[in-house]
Amino acid sequence: MDSIAIRGGKELNGRIAVSGAKNACLALMPAALLTEEPLTLTNAPRLADIRTMTELLGSLGAEVAPLSQGRVLAIGAARVSNHTAHYDIVRKMRASILVLGPLLARDGLANVSLPGGCAIGARPVDLHLQGLEALGAELELRDGYVHAKSQGRLRGAKIDLPVPSVGATENILTAATLARGATVLNNAAREPEIVDLARCLRAMGAQIEGEGTSRIEIQGVETLHGATHRVIADRIELGTYMLAPAIAGGEVELVGGDRASVASLVEQLEKADVDVDDTEDGIKVRRRNGRVGALNVVTEPYPGFPTDLQAQLMAMLCTAQGQSVLEERIFENRFMHAPELMRMGARIDVHGGTAKIQGVERLRGAPVMATDLRASVSLILAGLAAEGETLVSRVYHLDRGYESVEEKLGACGADIERVNAGG
Ligand code: EPZ
Repeated sequence: MDSIAIRGGKELNGRIAVSGAKNACLALMPAALLTEEPLTLTNAPRLADIRTMTELLGSLGAEVAPLSQGRVLAIGAARVSNHTAHYDIVRKMRASILVLGPLLARDGLANVSLPGGCAIGARPVDLHLQGLEALGAELELRDGYVHAKSQGRLRGAKIDLPVPSVGATENILTAATLARGATVLNNAAREPEIVDLARCLRAMGAQIEGEGTSRIEIQGVETLHGATHRVIADRIELGTYMLAPAIAGGEVELVGGDRASVASLVEQLEKADVDVDDTEDGIKVRRRNGRVGALNVVTEPYPGFPTDLQAQLMAMLCTAQGQSVLEERIFENRFMHAPELMRMGARIDVHGGTAKIQGVERLRGAPVMATDLRASVSLILAGLAAEGETLVSRVYHLDRGYESVEEKLGACGADIERVNAGG
């Protein structure tokens, strides 16, 4: 199994191109099930999770051409020959639940394995199910699967989400595009990935208004057609690499990054004495002084500070001047990186959903491992500035969501390589 070895202490200088957004692409791909015509996604990222979604759509009868050099993902669902998303695939990737809405909307039939728990929290899917029930689906939970059907087409409804769940918003939005009548979704998630999905669905002929706000209105249409859509840039990958020079020093330009999508991070970085400047091609990040300032940050739904950047921000705060406080409000168990960072010399005190981080002068390299994607990359970031070697194992988490990390950071001068743990 591969690991990543980092010998810390090198400043970073150079440019990093931001890839297409994993979480946008994972929501867009199942939308191809809504039409018999092909959906073509450009700027798709080259990631393990995208391959898993390709495998899942293939198992349902869709044809997905392998991701080309040009990063084009062409999906044709002229036929859906199977309506079951099996446990074997769903347990690998929770986003598999996003085929539920499109399958139901298209054929009134879907059997999708329940994803189960996850390293970062319980992550139930009750809101997805309640939303689809409100649209007229009949659901039965049996043998670890959701068995869903509808007599005829789904029916538009007024749905109030108790929390603005990203996945529930995506499932309800896709299902409602082919429902009879109007759907109003209140307290909808406002993430850029939702906006991207709505734009793609609109290009396919859907009638949607209000994406990016808490109230989305969908007028169901008879059929949708094929389209070509460009996947937005990955704001979490962008934010992750913005934190790299803030931690290691130097100046890095993020090419193709959308500043507005990471406004909450920019605000915090500026407070911590890190400059973020616009360039012609993206944004440039540079630490102003020797050590960054301490911060108090709470994770929230978009446009608040994203939970998906909390671990990476913690890596930066480990060497900040003074005490920082991070409060995780989205997932109940998302501090698994803290004990690993402490093995590198960080001083962190976790109580429930709050972590107090007392900045130290310098971290020291150590063998570490992580239980999820963002935790893994936070350890790599910490390793960039640590004294000596950091060896991050369980790299398969990283490969789910970061494309060519070692090449991207290596091109900026980081001493980083992928090693085979056996070799
Ligand atoms: C999406 O997960 C992302 N995944 C996550 O990215 C991200 O952390 C999360 O949104 C929050 O931004 C994808 O887009 C594929 P939620 P999702 O439903 O949709 C609770 C990464 O690292 N909830 O918005 O699963 C839930 O437990 C990942 O790329 C219910 O109670 O997140 C959580 O506390 C990890 N019932 C909160 O809502 C439900 O039915 C927000 O979850 C659904 C959610």
